[in-house]
Amino acid sequence: MPSAFNAELFQNQLNTTWLGSEFLYKERVDSTNTCLKKVPSPELVHGTVLIADHQTKGRGQYEKKWNSEPGENLTFSIALRPPAPERLTLLTLSCANAITMVLEELVNREVRIKWPNDIYIEGKKIGGLLTECCFNGKNLDRVLIGIGLNIGQTYFEGDLLHKATSVAGLTGKQYSREEILCNLLTAIESFYMKWHKFDDELQKEISRKMIGYGEWVSLQINKILQPEKYKFLGVNRQGELIVLDEQLDINTFSYEQIRIITHRKGVSETESE
Ligand code: BTN
Repeated sequence: MPSAFNAELFQNQLNTTWLGSEFLYKERVDSTNTCLKKVPSPELVHGTVLIADHQTKGRGQYEKKWNSEPGENLTFSIALRPPAPERLTLLTLSCANAITMVLEELVNREVRIKWPNDIYIEGKKIGGLLTECCFNGKNLDRVLIGIGLNIGQTYFEGDLLHKATSVAGLTGKQYSREEILCNLLTAIESFYMKWHKFDDELQKEISRKMIGYGEWVSLQINKILQPEKYKFLGVNRQGELIVLDEQLDINTFSYEQIRIITHRKGVSETESE
């Protein structure tokens, strides 16, 4: 059953040091990312979280729409003010990794990251991240990490019918969105700190969670399927993809227009996009 997010309940349970200390709840907005872009720079606190029950113009990657049943799921954005515009792909992946850990506890199944910013369970998408950077001249002003997670919605329409899943859809249970958001922010804060400290275990941990890790995969670059196979070796300290080609040369790719296509049981992972 859809219900309004209870901001007071959430704030009473929140156990983070700084993430979400500045918290905004809106019943309805165009997009939580767009909303946080408009906060004047001097007023924007590092770690601000904005959640909305209903986004009228929710945005996904590649200019796609992000549709989510109002009052059922989690659609929120985090404003971060890291010192420099570096390793931001690894920052997004760190948040994705935090999300997989919280979801695994809830659904008791393996949760995987699909390059670049998707969260998958058993071949279906349960959530995604949209990272946007705002600059003030040459200086990084803010990084907005928008997160959409399917929690209570059990029916998906059209294209999403067989491609999307949710926590309730997988377990048949209903959940407190307030409690899940508290757990997510605790995990994201902890992974942000690892990222901030250049923790060398971080990229290894993330790599192990990625679909196709350690496998011979195909790559689609700008929608063009590459004829060669590549062994996917995970991500490096910048969050770039590392692959070994058939000549055993190491290649790195940093852009998002890449798709990793696995060949497990002859099923291509792109089919579930
Ligand atoms: C994707 O998988 O394409 C990324 C989806 C990101 C959706 C979230 S919902 C909260 C935030 N506000 C938006 O408009 N988009 C992100």
